[in-house]
Amino acid sequence: MTTHNMSVDLCGVRLKNPVMTASGTFGSGIEFSSFFDLNRLGAVVTKGVSSVPWEGNPTPRICETPSGMLNAIGLQNPGFDVFAKRDLGFLEETLRPDEGSSGIGTKVIVNVCGHSEEEYVDCVTKLAAEKRADLLEINISCPNVKEGGIAFGTDPKGVERITSVIRKIARQPVIMKLSPNVTDITEIAKAAQAGGADALSMINTLTGMKIDVERRAFALANKTGGLSGPAIHPVAVRMVYQCAKAVQIPIIGMGGIRTAADALEMLMAGATAVSVGTASFHDQTTALSVIDGIREYLERHQIADVRELIGCVE
Ligand SMILES: Cc1cc2nc3c(=O)[nH]c(=O)nc-3n(C[C@H](O)[C@H](O)[C@H](O)COP(=O)(O)O)c2cc1C
Repeated sequence: MTTHNMSVDLCGVRLKNPVMTASGTFGSGIEFSSFFDLNRLGAVVTKGVSSVPWEGNPTPRICETPSGMLNAIGLQNPGFDVFAKRDLGFLEETLRPDEGSSGIGTKVIVNVCGHSEEEYVDCVTKLAAEKRADLLEINISCPNVKEGGIAFGTDPKGVERITSVIRKIARQPVIMKLSPNVTDITEIAKAAQAGGADALSMINTLTGMKIDVERRAFALANKTGGLSGPAIHPVAVRMVYQCAKAVQIPIIGMGGIRTAADALEMLMAGATAVSVGTASFHDQTTALSVIDGIREYLERHQIADVRELIGCVE
């Protein structure tokens, strides 16, 4: 029987397969671990953590939309100290270092958020001491944080600056997570690369709004929220394709991935790995069916190595 290589290289870190979870849609896997073995994932990407606890936005902060959802959680999180003990502690106990036939363990990508440069620096500095954090994903693109996130994420100069500040102090490879809420995402991707980013992840949610006509009121207390789910998938594929052409660093593609075919589109557009987000709310095991579906595709098309698919459409 031919073996089909599923492992990929993400800025010097080997992943057993190219499928991971999207930040904020999986916690740190604590609840999901009762549905499946987390050791099957390429990587677990944790919910955004900040140096101090954040309360998040007032409720209601999620609502359904056609083929998607809006959220305005506002990056609620318990802060670094609780996260390090509870979440990284759980992942340390749960993930085996050399699991499965590939001999490669599931990696941990810690998503970081901040209101200011100082807050990012504080959190990244603390993470340098955490052995279980294999890579950092820096969220400069959350549309729900008024004091900073979106400002950093939409201005190329700001992106280059925050990236270089973080790159200098980070012990782990730095993945910059980009906002789609810009005119030309390739300008932002190039700025992150110029600042020294090791990889990019895209896309975060697209800013949207829903009005409850019966109540004549906004559906979300925050008025606007981030749109995610299948509705944004074609936008995400287009942006991954454009950025893969514009930069030399690897890209993690996400946005509306629900099936292996959706993930394969991302790889073919130029992504090295993919993240499954909103779809996990509907079916907790979506990431696993995406992994299995990619393997079946390799078998059906007699492709020996998943890396042959990366950027294969020109
Ligand atoms: C409820 C919710 C919470 C999220 N929280 C975060 C977060 O903390 N940090 C972050 O970088 N992205 C966050 N995101 C964005 C997702 O990681 C992802 O980029 C986006 O939802 C697009 O992928 P999807 O359509 O597969 O969900 C969140 C998304 C949702 C739906």
